[in-house]
Amino acid sequence: MARLSIDRVSKSFGDFRALDDVSLEVRDGEFVAVLGASGCGKTTLLRQIAGFDKLDAGRIFIGDSIVSSQTRHLPPERRRIGIVFQSYALWPHMTVAENVAYGLTVAGIKDPARSRRVDAALNLVELHGFGERRPAMLSGGQRQRVALARCLVTEPSLVLLDEPLANLDVHLRASMEQEFADFHARTGTTMVYVTHDQAEAMALADRIAVMSKGRILQVATPSQLYREPADAVVAAFIGEGMIVPAEVRAVKGDGTCWASLYGYNTRMRCDVSQTLIGKAQACLHAGDLKIAERPDSGLRVRVDRTVYQGGYFRLSVPEPFDTAPGGVIGIDVRGGWIIPSSTPP
Ligand SMILES: Nc1ncnc2c1ncn2[C@@H]1O[C@H](COP(=O)(O)OP(=O)(O)O)[C@@H](O)[C@H]1O
Ligand SMILES: [Mg+2]
Repeated sequence: MARLSIDRVSKSFGDFRALDDVSLEVRDGEFVAVLGASGCGKTTLLRQIAGFDKLDAGRIFIGDSIVSSQTRHLPPERRRIGIVFQSYALWPHMTVAENVAYGLTVAGIKDPARSRRVDAALNLVELHGFGERRPAMLSGGQRQRVALARCLVTEPSLVLLDEPLANLDVHLRASMEQEFADFHARTGTTMVYVTHDQAEAMALADRIAVMSKGRILQVATPSQLYREPADAVVAAFIGEGMIVPAEVRAVKGDGTCWASLYGYNTRMRCDVSQTLIGKAQACLHAGDLKIAERPDSGLRVRVDRTVYQGGYFRLSVPEPFDTAPGGVIGIDVRGGWIIPSSTPP
């Protein structure tokens, strides 16, 4: 196992900057998800780590050694990295055991050492006894586990996963998520897991790097990202955050401030070192809002639409907030976060 350190890496294709000054530290044994919309540069980043492409600027370390820089490029096969792709790319004419053994065969490792390592890898992914089957006789989830075993058998110091569940059914994904989490807990392998699926990243990762347009916007634990987004893009992306204009009136020393939302005064959480008196943006989640007991109190909003969602209702409230009578309710705001780097509207 090894730590991974990405230090100010950039990569362009022609004039298109696919990675723009990306830095990320992954600790030894950590599970980090890279989360971002399709096309934001996730696969490009993995390819840099694996050494399939040369970078334009920056450095990548695995353990204590530099594997990529402008002057050094360690070839992929010498990086001790295991990769699992979205398409598991198993050879249909080979058995499961032969598929898993392939990397060892290429490396010149012979039986009995080879068979012993294949068995151990199949055990790790809980496919003991499946070695003689062909991929066609397995479910999608089992095939993905074979792909994982094939990557693990080479004893990688670091495992990269590029949207490994994207091709699976919804119900299978949930159980595979659990498999990846269990696998990580069992082995303590350092893992970088790329996905566009927020729920998947939240469920699996110790920390999530949120990526957008070739840049990493924030690296934090799932709950920090949700509660304390560093900017408006992260705030809107994670957990359907609502972004509303706010006026900060007073900053307290205890991590809160008094702010006015459309004239309604409330206490919100903030980063006291970065929050100034004046215009700002606030991030609210549904859990921060409560319908006021007295209809004339709280933040007054007009309800446009009410949709039952099973167990709760979703209310749509159009902006600008209407204070005219009829359909108007009061909302108590009990939480919310002042976005630190927000540009005032
Ligand atoms: N070899 C390449 N040549 C030109 N453009 C590329 C190449 N690889 C990726 N890109 C572009 O870089 C951007 C990021 O791609 P990618 O890293 O695959 O995104 P993601 O994996 O997040 O969906 C995309 O706009 C893509 O078209
Ligand atoms: Mg991709």
